[in-house]
Amino acid sequence: MPLVPTEELVARAAGERRCVTAFNVITLEHAEGIVAGAEAAGRPVILQISENAVRYHGGRLAPIALAASSLARSGAVDVALHLDHVTDVELLYQAADAGFSSVMFDAGALPYGENVAATASAARWAHEAGLWLEAELGYVGGKPDSPASAHAAGVRTAPAEAADYVARTRVDALAVAVGSSHAMTERSATLDHALIERLRKAVPVPLVLHGSSGVPDEELRAAVRAGMVKINVGTALNISLTRAVRDTLERDPALTDPRTYLGPARDAVATTVHEMLAVLAA
Ligand code: G3H
Ligand code: ZN
Repeated sequence: MPLVPTEELVARAAGERRCVTAFNVITLEHAEGIVAGAEAAGRPVILQISENAVRYHGGRLAPIALAASSLARSGAVDVALHLDHVTDVELLYQAADAGFSSVMFDAGALPYGENVAATASAARWAHEAGLWLEAELGYVGGKPDSPASAHAAGVRTAPAEAADYVARTRVDALAVAVGSSHAMTERSATLDHALIERLRKAVPVPLVLHGSSGVPDEELRAAVRAGMVKINVGTALNISLTRAVRDTLERDPALTDPRTYLGPARDAVATTVHEMLAVLAA
């Protein structure tokens, strides 16, 4: 299958009143597991690499991006490549050459006016480079470098401000704060579905849910019914991967070949992806 543009997968999902799920890639095993899980589910998928993951790879984007796009090209389902949570414009400028069709530019921690100015400029550049740009309004907390206030309960995106933000920045998709938080290890978040519907009506671009690992299945389905189109999942894969590594090494602490524990870890990622895509396709 070809590597397809994120814009195409999102537009298709929006047209069908469904969602497309974007899973975070940190290692090659994540990318392999995600594509295998999507193939098992027979569903398209977005591979997304965050600025934090690039930092983990020594600040080098190309090696992990090339691996992900190569896997995408050889997959049996449509796969798109997205650069996630970019705060550094120098990284944004590398996206098109590294094979990405879309970027999430993250100025969500900035005050409103500064967020608008930075994001409008990023969107202008992205569109000239042929990239689809997602941005965030109403901070979704929980990332390692989040400002403390972002964790405050009740942070929500206001529909009128969201409409103004999209008009002024010309972004192609909007991540909104509706009750989820990044890096939750329990699936206990409750979303504000009425707010999602109000945002869908107020905003002319697709809505994106971040921090979806902490959201229970039924809440995710309801969020899609209310208008969420792109669902971002990261931590759930890390939980599966790490649990598999830990189980394998606990069973046999003498193991040294990484294939003996990374193989089951990759399979665990594939199983989690398959399960989540089945839930969201239902
Ligand atoms: O952008 C990535 C997602 O928001 C992932 O959030 O790790 O809480 O699932 P999560
Ligand atoms: Zn996120």
